[in-house]
Amino acid sequence: MRIGFVGTGTIAEAIIEGVTKSSLAPEYIVISPRNKDIAGRLAAMHEVVRIGDTNQAVVDESDMIFIAVRPQVVEEVLRELTFRPKQHVVSLVATLSADQLRCWLGEEVIITQAIPLPFVAERQGVTAVFPPNQEAMYFFAALGTAIAVHSKDEFDLTALASSLMGSYFGLLEGIADWFSEKGMPAEITRSYVARLFASLSDIAIKSSHKPLGTLRHEYSTRGGLNEQLFQEFSHLGGLDALKGALQKVHGRIRGA
Ligand SMILES: NC(=O)c1ccc[n+]([C@@H]2O[C@H](COP(=O)([O-])OP(=O)(O)OC[C@H]3O[C@@H](n4cnc5c(N)ncnc54)[C@H](OP(=O)(O)O)[C@@H]3O)[C@@H](O)[C@H]2O)c1
Repeated sequence: MRIGFVGTGTIAEAIIEGVTKSSLAPEYIVISPRNKDIAGRLAAMHEVVRIGDTNQAVVDESDMIFIAVRPQVVEEVLRELTFRPKQHVVSLVATLSADQLRCWLGEEVIITQAIPLPFVAERQGVTAVFPPNQEAMYFFAALGTAIAVHSKDEFDLTALASSLMGSYFGLLEGIADWFSEKGMPAEITRSYVARLFASLSDIAIKSSHKPLGTLRHEYSTRGGLNEQLFQEFSHLGGLDALKGALQKVHGRIRGA
């Protein structure tokens, strides 16, 4: 497998780190010269990585090319490039539709869209792949878990789900701040609640056969503190606020 990256930034670096720890064993990974610092670091650290002279050289020397530039520059970057028929292009660019990509890349290119998350660096990422092209599924399964997505609507919703990362930390921050006001050092709250959430996430994954409402009841004694906290949260509009925010961001994704 000869892998290329057009755009060598945060997510490209995370994927390359994951690949070097995986069993994928590509023949080589060729990366675009930008960003110079990241490209230089990756090439110095990993023998399998080398820096291409230009974006076009990256394309020419690869079978599977990841597009990892920001949405603001993607059109300008892609319009300058020529791809071979049947070359496999994996777009990581959030909010870019397959129709738009097809228009810039041509009919002959195989296009896959994917949403890797930074955890791929440790091979713990969950990556949505649309359509679930076999090569892309195999690739991302080696970096954690690959989720097969079969429609644009599902892909948009997965993009929405991936945008919960900031809210997770914001929620943790809000909890730590509140406890801090009550006298608990923020670091202790952070350590306690982050581990609590990690254990709960583990249960949610391992008990995938159980409805989430069942788990909520199992982890809330009737009349107890857990039950009351969730009721108060709901009555104060917590769930409605969350759903309202999801609705707004979903609208933005669909409108893009
Ligand atoms: N970060 C994530 O967790 C994540 C997850 C999934 C998808 N994505 C998507 O992946 C894409 C990249 O995100 P990122 O977080 O990795 O952004 P980033 O760190 O800013 O990386 C983008 C890279 O593109 C380079 N670049 C800019 N213009 C270029 C050009 N003309 N030719 C070649 N390279 C060029 C930039 O180089 P300079 O620094 O020199 O400008 C930078 O290294 C985005 O579309 C984003 O939506 C990101």
